[in-house]
Amino acid sequence: MSAALLCINIDHIATLRQARGGVYPDPVEGALLCERSGCDGITVHLREDRRHIQDRDVFALKEIVKGKFNLEMALSDEIIKIAAEVKPDQITIVPEKREELTTEGGLDVGKNTKKIIESINLFHSLNIAVSLFIEPDEKVIELSKKCGADYIEIHTGTYCNAVQKEEINKEIDRIYNAANHALKIGIKVNAGHGLNYSNLKPVLKTPGLEELNIGHSIISRAVFVGLPEAVKEMLKIIK
Ligand code: PXP
Repeated sequence: MSAALLCINIDHIATLRQARGGVYPDPVEGALLCERSGCDGITVHLREDRRHIQDRDVFALKEIVKGKFNLEMALSDEIIKIAAEVKPDQITIVPEKREELTTEGGLDVGKNTKKIIESINLFHSLNIAVSLFIEPDEKVIELSKKCGADYIEIHTGTYCNAVQKEEINKEIDRIYNAANHALKIGIKVNAGHGLNYSNLKPVLKTPGLEELNIGHSIISRAVFVGLPEAVKEMLKIIK
């Protein structure tokens, strides 16, 4: 199996821009630099509160991203409409709470089944692949498959937050078991959230891992070494 793809989440370039409400730094320029530095795709999350990425960013990125363009979004009617217009290569459906700092926990597929199925059908009719951001849990993986998702994105946040060795090992095993189960029932495996230069290596051994979505750590590293170098350092670990 070849190395996982690296899709860089550039939300936090927009976070810096929105801090002053101006025009820089521009996430579109960031996407160009990331791709020139060798990453495989670009990910953004269009949040309902528009705290970082704005609608115009998503439309502009669709035009300039050469690799995979992955749009993360919650199932709100307003965002679904925008996504259907933009037509990214992939949509990753995430849960969203207004007050959270970042996405907390995976999607509750059991509670939102009808809306998830309807949205997957709509996106498939537009040739958009759909991934569901979920906890590494067999039942949720089976539900995701039943809903017709092409991919699951395994939420790596609990693993990344673990401190004690035992807890870290337990969480990495959960990720591996979840991936094996997904492969067994025929659903592809992505992973992301909280991954950085120090905790990534064990995640790379996830069975069948196709794609990593990594943002905060790369954009943070870029503050000190520049975006091209930060991207190259991450690629060196992955490839
Ligand atoms: N994957 C999903 C579904 C996310 O919501 C996020 C955060 O927007 C990421 C990956 C990237 O997480 P991080 O910024 O912690 O690398």
